[in-house]
Amino acid sequence: MELQAAVRGRRSIRKFRPEPIPGNVLEELLEIARWAPSWGNTQPWELYVITGEPLEAFRKANVASMAGGEPLRNDVPMPEKWPEPMKLRYMNVGKSVVTSLGLKREDKEGRHRHQLNMGALFGAPCLLVATVPRDVLVEYAMLDVGLFLQTLTLAAYDRGLGTCIMASSIHYADLLRRHGSIPGDRRIIMGAALGYPETEAPINRFERQRAALTDFVKWVR
Ligand SMILES: Cc1cc2nc3c(=O)[nH]c(=O)nc-3n(C[C@H](O)[C@H](O)[C@H](O)COP(=O)(O)O)c2cc1C
Repeated sequence: MELQAAVRGRRSIRKFRPEPIPGNVLEELLEIARWAPSWGNTQPWELYVITGEPLEAFRKANVASMAGGEPLRNDVPMPEKWPEPMKLRYMNVGKSVVTSLGLKREDKEGRHRHQLNMGALFGAPCLLVATVPRDVLVEYAMLDVGLFLQTLTLAAYDRGLGTCIMASSIHYADLLRRHGSIPGDRRIIMGAALGYPETEAPINRFERQRAALTDFVKWVR
C-alpha cells in the first residue's frame, strides 16, 4: 500500500470481529514495527502480545474494575487537565463516538455501556501492551513507544487489520500484570487492541477531524 494511503486510511477501530489473528501475521507486523526509530537506537520497548484465555480473563477483570468505578492504577499517571483547544477536540471525538452508536447525549446508561465495552477492548482478539524497564526515563520511553505503535498500526492497516491504541486498556496495571504475565520491573506504557475490523459498523466510519496547519505550524523564516 502506498504510504500516504496508509497514513490517511488508518483510523482507530472500535468494533472488532472475533476471529483470531494467525500467528504468522502477528509476527510479520512485529517484524516491521521493530524498525521504528528510538532514542540512540535504544529500542526500550518490550511488547506483550496477549490473546486467548489470558486475554479473556483480563477483559473480564478490567470491565469489573471499571464497572465498580475503582480509582485508576496506571503505571504512568493519566493527565487530569487539558488546555481548552485540546479539551474541545477530546470532547468532539467523544461526541462522534456516541453519535455513531445512535446514543443521545443524555443517555447516561448507553454511554456507560460504551465505556464498559471499551474496557472489554471493543471485542478485539488481541491486546498488545508496550512496556519499558522501570529505570528508563519515562518521557523518552513514551516517545519511542509512540513511534513503535504508530509503525505497528500502519503495518496492521496495510494487512487489513484494525487497531485502537487504548489508554483504557492500561488503567488497572496490576490486572494487566497478573493476566499478561508482565513482571513488576516493567513499566506499562500503552496498550493497543488489534483484530479484524467490522468495517461497516458506524463506529468505525464516522468522519474524523484534524487541526489545520494554521492552527499548529509556526513558520520561522
Ligand atoms: C495514547 C492514546 C490513547 C488512546 N486511548 C483510547 C481509548 O482508551 N479509547 C478509545 O476509544 N480511543 C483511544 N485512542 C484513540 C484516539 O481517540 C484516536 O487516535 C483519535 O481520536 C484520532 O482518531 P484516529 O485514530 O481514528 O485517527 C487513543 C489514542 C492514543 C494515541
